[in-house]
Amino acid sequence: MFEELKYPVVQAPMAGGLISADFVAQVSNFGFLGSVAGGYLSVDELRQMIRQVKAKTTNPFLVNIFIFGDLSEIENTTHPKPQSVQELERLFTDQVNPEFSVPVLPSEDEYVNLVIEEGVKYVSSTFGFFLPKSVDKLKSKNIKVIASCSSMSEVNHCIARGADAIIFQRSEAGGHKSGFTNIIFSDSIFGLFKQAKILHPNVPFIVAGGILPIEIPNFLAAKFNAVQLGSAFLLTHESNLSKCAREVILKPHETVVSKVITGRNARWLKNKLLERLSLATDVYKTPLLQHYATLELRRMAQLAESPDYIAILISEKAQQLKSQPLSDLCLEIAKSFDD
Ligand SMILES: Cc1cc2nc3c(=O)[nH]c(=O)nc-3n(C[C@H](O)[C@H](O)[C@H](O)COP(=O)(O)O)c2cc1C
Repeated sequence: MFEELKYPVVQAPMAGGLISADFVAQVSNFGFLGSVAGGYLSVDELRQMIRQVKAKTTNPFLVNIFIFGDLSEIENTTHPKPQSVQELERLFTDQVNPEFSVPVLPSEDEYVNLVIEEGVKYVSSTFGFFLPKSVDKLKSKNIKVIASCSSMSEVNHCIARGADAIIFQRSEAGGHKSGFTNIIFSDSIFGLFKQAKILHPNVPFIVAGGILPIEIPNFLAAKFNAVQLGSAFLLTHESNLSKCAREVILKPHETVVSKVITGRNARWLKNKLLERLSLATDVYKTPLLQHYATLELRRMAQLAESPDYIAILISEKAQQLKSQPLSDLCLEIAKSFDD
């Protein structure tokens, strides 16, 4: 499945404007699979980004799509902002808006039509998997459909629905737990992988989460078909990670898996924001509601360059990573194949 890549390496999709189209194209031009993060983008924004990537590379790249299901009850409406979030916003402004709104997000159909129209070759899903009719439509256009999973039951479900490949996300991974059940892979990933390989011997598996460039050969030797790296790419000079976030990541810190910022389990750098929200009793349990409830606060903290309150999704292994030019990271990864 990854024969057309020079190296079986995927640059993880990272939503939130952290990775530009130029960045994705550079990664794909180097011979890895660059990824466009579709999460939270409108159809027009995503189309524009895909076209910008296509203008800079003829190599394949991936588009990642969040599967949110039916949002009709929460989108396009205003909701009361939790007092806990309002209190934190008062650290940055006197004019706190007691409400927030959830925009209308693209439907699965809109995303599927978009990637088909734009001739994308690889699509991955996060927080769920495509409906059978979407899988059929994508596969009829020879698009490779990849599912991000965090448990064995998710792997079985996605393969039964026609997934061409599976991303196994390990618990060390930075960012959200990509799966759609509440089970998170434990450290015995190799055991689970062995089971998965017995059940699905012909399905390619991509492993993600806390992988350092130097460790890539170990995962390929264990018969994973490809590796996906997120935080290593995020720390390169060319990402849009803020200076403040970069400095905090490179200093000693702890990370924590928590739902308090977005309503979904994600690995965050532990700071006052995480600590204060963890004590709150009024956070929304519905994922997208808490995401949009805290969005303004996160923007304020970012603008104020406040290391205690910026929200940083990052790998458990981040302190072992380097802040370096993207070309150096690509060469370092390529070298791990020669050694
Ligand atoms: C800042 C950040 C944003 C992320 N956004 C996404 C996303 O939009 N879609 C997705 O499937 N995974 C996302 N992830 C998770 C990655 O795809 C991947 O599983 C993880 O980053 C790999 O672990 P690593 O960061 O330890 O290399 C994100 C991770 C980070 C660090």
